[in-house]
Amino acid sequence: MISKRTQEITSFIVMDVLERANEMEREGVHIVHLEVGEPDFDTPACVKDAACRALEDGHTHYTHSLGLFELREAICEYYLSAYGVSVEPDQVIVTSGSSPAIFLVFSALLEKDDEVIISDPHYACYPNFIKFVQGRPVTIPVYEEDGFQYRPESIKEKLTAKTKAVFINSPSNPTGNLLSERRMQEIAALAENRPAPYIVSDEIYHGLVYEGKEHSILEFTDHAFVLNGFSKLFAMTGLRLGYVIAPKAFVRPMQKLQQNFFISANAMVQQAGIAALKEAGKDVTRMKEIYDERRRFMISRLKEIGLGITVEPTGAFYVFANARHISKDSYKLAFDILEKAHVGVAPGIDFGPNGEGYLRFSYANSLDNIKEGMNRLEKYLNR
Ligand SMILES: Cc1ncc(COP(=O)(O)O)c(C=O)c1O
Repeated sequence: MISKRTQEITSFIVMDVLERANEMEREGVHIVHLEVGEPDFDTPACVKDAACRALEDGHTHYTHSLGLFELREAICEYYLSAYGVSVEPDQVIVTSGSSPAIFLVFSALLEKDDEVIISDPHYACYPNFIKFVQGRPVTIPVYEEDGFQYRPESIKEKLTAKTKAVFINSPSNPTGNLLSERRMQEIAALAENRPAPYIVSDEIYHGLVYEGKEHSILEFTDHAFVLNGFSKLFAMTGLRLGYVIAPKAFVRPMQKLQQNFFISANAMVQQAGIAALKEAGKDVTRMKEIYDERRRFMISRLKEIGLGITVEPTGAFYVFANARHISKDSYKLAFDILEKAHVGVAPGIDFGPNGEGYLRFSYANSLDNIKEGMNRLEKYLNR
């Protein structure tokens, strides 16, 4: 019998859309993919070279369970130069992508029925991570007119003796919006009076900000965990490299989890991660400029077509557009758009009940493909 915990894991709907799109492609249909949250850029050459060199140099064995010291040092240098925050290599645990890092944090933090506050909409996988270790996600709706930012006063209302963490993600998947500095400060202040919840900050889209500036939660409080990774900023999704920066008291317990469940992250990829942090600056600037051009184009075209965008997204590579006037069932709508217009989009319901009626468009695709996708969508809507 399959365990209840496993049965309760929900599917990642955007993957269902992608799988149906792939099936159609096998039947010869041309699909424009705006559903997937994965950089279309090739991994920077300096990263690939470092990975190949690492293989040739014999970096094919286990590493220290926390990760290579040089990589952890490079991560600390990055946080110091980007945010002026000082963290030490013994606070960093390197993982195979940020997903295992999320698992480590909630495994170490939650007792049965402990609560974690998350926004609604949120990254689709968050509730599953929390529930799998017997915690309870407590959702707080965030609204289009606020740029989908948390209202700190709404968080306060939901705090209970069981609240162990407040989960933030800025820039956010699926909305592409940034939490303002003021709201981040107010959220960090919730972590100041003991016992207080930890702030868990998923900073995986940091660096992909086109207007304004992102802030690390560590600028405001150290009662926090930072989750980050190389997938998005460095176009390294398939290489699987991430990390968590944790309060010192949690490092040894999380290290034991890592030793038992994962042993260490991939040795050769860790070498590639050092190259990414030290040498890929120019590649990142180039990708960012291109994302920004696509972002501006996509926002203006979606508005022209009649989709609702109240506060323009300024980060990550997503536009979360209001399609409630077209359909209140985003799942059906996304699959209908796929079948009839041959454009893959992510249904808002994938990101929580408050995302219902929205569609998420990813601009991690070429401008030509985005143009074609928008034209197909316009025809579909005018049919
Ligand atoms: C907000 C957010 N966090 C974490 C992840 C997981 O990324 P990875 O495991 O590739 O580091 C994703 C992937 O889409 C994401 O959007």
